[in-house]
Amino acid sequence: MNIDFAAAGQAPSAETALALLVFEGGALAGPAAQLDTITDGALTRAIAASRFKGSKGQTLELVGPAGSAAGRIVLVGAGSRDTLDERIVEQAAASAYAAVKISGLKTLVVDVSDLAPEQAAHAAFGVRLAAYRFDRYRTKEKPEQKPSVETLRVLAADAAVAQTAFGPLEALADGVSFTRDLVSEPANILYPEEFARRVKALESMGLTVEILGEAEMEKLGMGSLLCVGYGSARESQLAVIQWKGAADPDAQPIAFVGKGVCFDTGGISIKPAEGMEDMKWDMGGAGAVAGLMHTLAGRKAKVNAVGILGLVENMPDGKAVRPGDIVTSMSGQTIEVINTDAEGRLVLADALWYCQDRFKPRFMIDLATLTGAVIIALGNDYAGLFSNDDDLSDQLLAASKATGDNLWRMPLHAGYEKQFDSLAADMKNVGGRPAGSITAALILQKFVNGLPWAHLDIASTAWKKPSSVSTIPEGATGFGVRLLDRLVADNFEG
Ligand code: BES
Ligand code: MN
Ligand code: ZN
Repeated sequence: MNIDFAAAGQAPSAETALALLVFEGGALAGPAAQLDTITDGALTRAIAASRFKGSKGQTLELVGPAGSAAGRIVLVGAGSRDTLDERIVEQAAASAYAAVKISGLKTLVVDVSDLAPEQAAHAAFGVRLAAYRFDRYRTKEKPEQKPSVETLRVLAADAAVAQTAFGPLEALADGVSFTRDLVSEPANILYPEEFARRVKALESMGLTVEILGEAEMEKLGMGSLLCVGYGSARESQLAVIQWKGAADPDAQPIAFVGKGVCFDTGGISIKPAEGMEDMKWDMGGAGAVAGLMHTLAGRKAKVNAVGILGLVENMPDGKAVRPGDIVTSMSGQTIEVINTDAEGRLVLADALWYCQDRFKPRFMIDLATLTGAVIIALGNDYAGLFSNDDDLSDQLLAASKATGDNLWRMPLHAGYEKQFDSLAADMKNVGGRPAGSITAALILQKFVNGLPWAHLDIASTAWKKPSSVSTIPEGATGFGVRLLDRLVADNFEG
């Protein structure tokens, strides 16, 4: 998608669709009112002959009326003018894109010249997010089925200011797309080494990336992470990504850790066939951390940040870890593997311990498609937040509100810990069905060594079908990238 910003009044041509915001209640205003005047009331008539009221999410399309140069007009509802915010602008522009994306027209012009130029930047951001598509393996799609819109022009009160404001948002959209690509790739293409290669390639952005293989992880004593890959023909990897954007390169970093199970069959505790294909996105946590690091580098964030990805594949095999096996983690704590399908916590146990041991970060936040139980608890519109630190939780919840990456804080009550007491080892890797996402979080907490920490269980939000928000197409959502970029920007830069 080519995106540019131009001054108001740039006359669109017959090959363009012109999108205009319409607010609920009251008369047409701004560019919509002007167009209505020069087209002799064509917009007013079209609205009167429809159910369009300017509510959020509504669109009304009309063929370019006499008096307007545009081939089509798209009116987009933006709700009440008083409650307009950046996210509503993004979603309105994304709805306009959705209305015309396969129309055959190549250019979409969004006229938001009556809004602040910073809001115009968000209109462009919304279209960028909505236009994401994973079509790498579709060789037979007919041209008329493919999106036709290639260019977005945003008309802004001050095009230069809008362009500047778009800079960091473009970096964020690039990061979200990077995550969506990783999460969408099938596991025959994206296995641990390939994931690691794609992350290593980010060094061109100024990131430092180290890749540890199985021999190095064995030396470090990562018996917990490594056991997950015993049944896989693919080698397990640990990716260590560093961004040093703070004025002091030695300033204490903040850290993000991702579960990267490139495919989760369940292992010997094998999953049922139905829906197992979904487990290609069991690396969504690692995907989000990779996309976040991409974003921080892309916008040259003034912070030192570390991203750690535990990359494995969980397969049944003669060499696979068995139920009842006892493994020793890098922390020294032993774990009785009761269920080989509870593998994410085994991966994170060593990734978290390694992270705090090597980097002594200000805090650690892990992201993981960890439990089916979080979907039962929260459905698909919220991810679970578990934390030992109220300040970090509050910062995350504020970033969640601002970005629409919804979080709901869940209890981390120690009373649940007895559910994973083991007769033979320091703990079992499962705590039974009750409070399944909480016992999983409590197991992770055993490996954070008392550091401020938050765990985001994104099994509920990493993938969405069907989509319910215009900026998030069906499939990989990129959940977590916007959230954490905002957390960093609002609290940990400068
Ligand atoms: N990757 C799954 C969790 C998951 C389920 C993610 C559905 C996305 C959608 C995880 O490794 C898993 O299998 N968890 C088990 C844990 C259980 C064995 C204690 C689960 O949730 O059933
Ligand atoms: Mn599993
Ligand atoms: Zn899993």
